[in-house]
Amino acid sequence: MSVVIAVDGTAASGKGTLAKRLARHFGFAHMDSGALYRLTALAVLDNGGDPSREADALKGARAIDLSRAGDPAIRTDIVGSAASQVAAIPAIRAALHDFQLAFLVKPPGGSPGAVMDGRDIGTVIAPNATAKLFVDAAPEVRAHRRWLELRGMGINRDEGELLNEIRARDHADRTRTISPLKQAFDAALLDTTSLGIEPAFAAALHLVSAKVESALKDRQRG
Ligand code: CDP
Repeated sequence: MSVVIAVDGTAASGKGTLAKRLARHFGFAHMDSGALYRLTALAVLDNGGDPSREADALKGARAIDLSRAGDPAIRTDIVGSAASQVAAIPAIRAALHDFQLAFLVKPPGGSPGAVMDGRDIGTVIAPNATAKLFVDAAPEVRAHRRWLELRGMGINRDEGELLNEIRARDHADRTRTISPLKQAFDAALLDTTSLGIEPAFAAALHLVSAKVESALKDRQRG
């Protein structure tokens, strides 16, 4: 395993932005595991399938097009809700598990470490991660951030509806039987309710840097 920073958390808590910034800071590779579930969901919806049906979801997982990971089409809340449905299917989690693990064992570009964000990175995918963060914020604040993010993509949504969707998705993610969203016992909690991007990044760095630097030194010593 490389030096791994696991960043889990609730919907629109800012974990993706933090994960990217941490990866850039340490020169690590970054994977947004949510994009895998979103790409699966998009493939199911494009095929006219039902995201809660295992056969349709598996067909979608096999059709994942990784080159679309940066496509704004996967960021919509329709795809987010469908992603939450495919993510509750054990066969889908199994199909995506090895892919995520391979990334952490041997990050692309020969990088000494990787940052992965999602829901179960610190609990299931990498329980022995070097450092773990659990990112959360008040639902109203998260709904407002998602509203701003979507507006930036030219999508105008009612903020109250977004709040309901975020609450529903958190509930589904927390209560599913397989790999539910929960803070790992050894993850540091980062509440970004009153933190902008820069202070949140500074706080995240403060929480992980000693562990990461020491693991990097151990690796150098071989
Ligand atoms: O960006 P946001 O937090 O809204 O969502 P995301 O991280 O892209 O994840 C979309 C959905 O995929 C989540 O609601 C989860 O149901 C699922 N997911 C998961 O089950 N496990 C992961 N490691 C990542 C995402």
